[in-house]
Amino acid sequence: MVTKAVASHHKADAQAALRIGVIGAGIMGSNHARVLAGLPGAELVGIVDPLPEHRARATQLVGCRAFASVDELLGEGVDAVTIAAPTHLHHEIALACIARNIHVLVEKPIASTVEEGHEIVAAASRAGVTLMVGHVERFNPAVAAIKQAISGEDILSIGITRVGPFPPRMSNVGVVIDLAVHDIDLIRWFTESDIVEVQPQLSSAVAEREDIALLQFRTASGVLAHINTNWLTPFKARNVTVATRGKYVMGDLLTRQVTECFGFKPDGSYSMRHLPVGHDEPLRAELIAFLRAVRGEVPAVTGDEGVASLEIAIRCLENPPRPAASSPPRKGPRRVVG
Ligand SMILES: NC(=O)c1ccc[n+]([C@@H]2O[C@H](COP(=O)([O-])OP(=O)(O)OC[C@H]3O[C@@H](n4cnc5c(N)ncnc54)[C@H](O)[C@@H]3O)[C@@H](O)[C@H]2O)c1
Repeated sequence: MVTKAVASHHKADAQAALRIGVIGAGIMGSNHARVLAGLPGAELVGIVDPLPEHRARATQLVGCRAFASVDELLGEGVDAVTIAAPTHLHHEIALACIARNIHVLVEKPIASTVEEGHEIVAAASRAGVTLMVGHVERFNPAVAAIKQAISGEDILSIGITRVGPFPPRMSNVGVVIDLAVHDIDLIRWFTESDIVEVQPQLSSAVAEREDIALLQFRTASGVLAHINTNWLTPFKARNVTVATRGKYVMGDLLTRQVTECFGFKPDGSYSMRHLPVGHDEPLRAELIAFLRAVRGEVPAVTGDEGVASLEIAIRCLENPPRPAASSPPRKGPRRVVG
């Protein structure tokens, strides 16, 4: 059994700078390193990547040291790591770090499977180290403004659109694990409730895995939620709407404009106002929250929350996606004849 005394034993000294390493020098890891290099209270020890060209790029970009293996980084002595290696490696790398009593921030999704996620959570709890999951969208100031606007309200429904073009590098996951998991986390966080019903519609138009998903949910608290996500839209869009009994809140997560409609009158009139939204870089806010968690605060996104969101995403995938268009090619207005 893990006692509180053991758990607090590994909390970091509030005064000393935390020695942090980044694992994975791809898109996300390079951003982690860039932000950590400029963060008060953190000392970036270096970044790990097996690919020499990725190490060289990170060194050039951030000016930090680079290592070819996790062991080399850990050999330098670190208090904490952020793991931004491909998702299928999160489990192995997190367990190796936790076994050395190192605090861990792991990128979303926490792992490839729910079982792996549970194992990471259990290992961190046994070792008494901090575990946080990188659901960075929670730190988007527009999301924070929406969360504040609906606080104390009776939430009825949530709609989230997260669409865009195909990513330049196709990973081995589809749009549900890559994109919708962000919004599953937001729905759970906004409603402070678990998702209890899942109605997914998936199809694959171009990719092997699903590249279009329309997902419907019901939470234990009775909120209906909907996610529309795909890789077939020529531009990026990220929009959230929340209907409560007293308000209708609309947020654009890219332009960071958040508006609420309120004061509904029987004649159909209502008032509308733009809400103040902060300017913080979400990743910077997330990493600051991680440093605070290492120093003893409750992690802003716990391992259990990361596993719960992954579990819902995986439930959405239980039925394989169907081809987007029927075969032979359907008749319809898109076909040009002659
Ligand atoms: N929070 C977000 O918004 C967000 C956005 C994108 C990606 N991610 C997550 O971040 C993780 C990385 O995604 P990415 O887009 O940066 O991928 P990426 O492919 O750009 O980067 C992954 C890097 O890890 C390296 N790597 C491979 N094996 C390694 C090992 N054993 N040790 C260390 N490094 C290793 C690869 O060489 C590559 O440089 C994924 O889990 C992904 O889901 C999160």
